[in-house]
Amino acid sequence: MDHFPNSTGSFPATRLRRNRADEWTRRLVAENSLSCDDLIWPVFLKEGSGTREAITAMPGQVRVSLSELPDHVGRAVELGIPAIALFPATPAQRKDSEGSHALDADNLICRAARLLKATFPNLGLIGDVALDPYTDHGHDGVLRQGRVANDETLQVLAAQTVVQAQAGIDTLAPSDMMDGRIGALRSALDLAGFSDVRLMSYAAKYASGFYGPFRDALGSAATLKGDKRTYQMDPANSDEALREVALDLQEGADMVMVKPGMPYLDIIQRVKATFAVPTFAYQVSGEYSMLKAAINQGWLDPDTVILEALMAFKRAGCNGILTYFALEAATRLKRG
Ligand code: PBG
Repeated sequence: MDHFPNSTGSFPATRLRRNRADEWTRRLVAENSLSCDDLIWPVFLKEGSGTREAITAMPGQVRVSLSELPDHVGRAVELGIPAIALFPATPAQRKDSEGSHALDADNLICRAARLLKATFPNLGLIGDVALDPYTDHGHDGVLRQGRVANDETLQVLAAQTVVQAQAGIDTLAPSDMMDGRIGALRSALDLAGFSDVRLMSYAAKYASGFYGPFRDALGSAATLKGDKRTYQMDPANSDEALREVALDLQEGADMVMVKPGMPYLDIIQRVKATFAVPTFAYQVSGEYSMLKAAINQGWLDPDTVILEALMAFKRAGCNGILTYFALEAATRLKRG
């Protein structure tokens, strides 16, 4: 109370509804805003040509082959979306226990990066760093005695990072949750002459059931042996997220991310309040699918819930949001 001497008047002199009475006051007193500058669109890639394949568990999202990619991504560029995040679906025959296809300079994500850089030089490209699209066991790193081996995985991730930077990826986003990976990736990038390539760390990534539809989208659900709880965070923890973020910042992260989004708004708020650094949320596949399913049933109104859910991230302190709703949200924001 003492801290806010001017905002604690009492009724009837004070009526908070006055500022809500008209659109123009509501606009003036709004504490947060959402614009297309806040949006990052995750895009799923697929081998072959001429295909846009619907993802059953994510209505409205597709896997696109490279021939369709410029057209697909062009919609985001036209709407003014600053960046997209690329996720490749790797054919089963290219997967092995070491995830070696991650290091092939001609793999799908690298070919996509070269094509997109040439087509849309000003669009930010975010590349996923982790081995799960490439391993036949579906884990984010290499397995030794049935466990994901941290330090050996770091070497592969560092090489994967350089391969993607060489293909034109501007920002590498490690989603693997190995200890020490930001430091390892930063040194590898600097050594290879990519000191301007950014690192967006999935700093606080939880072992979440909300990734289910994404794993279906990439075909890693069928292959995943066990779960990811020995490297992704326990949903019970919050202080630990601050330690993860602190370490990643020390190691050179340019931006940090909390994932999933809506069930972890408290983590976003703590991260932003503690570190005051560029902070992002990933509104993950399960969050998208829940909303989309209810919208498609007519149980939720898309004209309100999509932007309301995204505004929650801004209110919690996010600079931006990775969201499968990016195109829909940008379209709605344009319409006003
Ligand atoms: C894996 C990865 C996952 C997502 C992004 N990168 C899933 C997982 O950790 O199993 C999830 C994204 C989503 O659910 O939308 N490196």
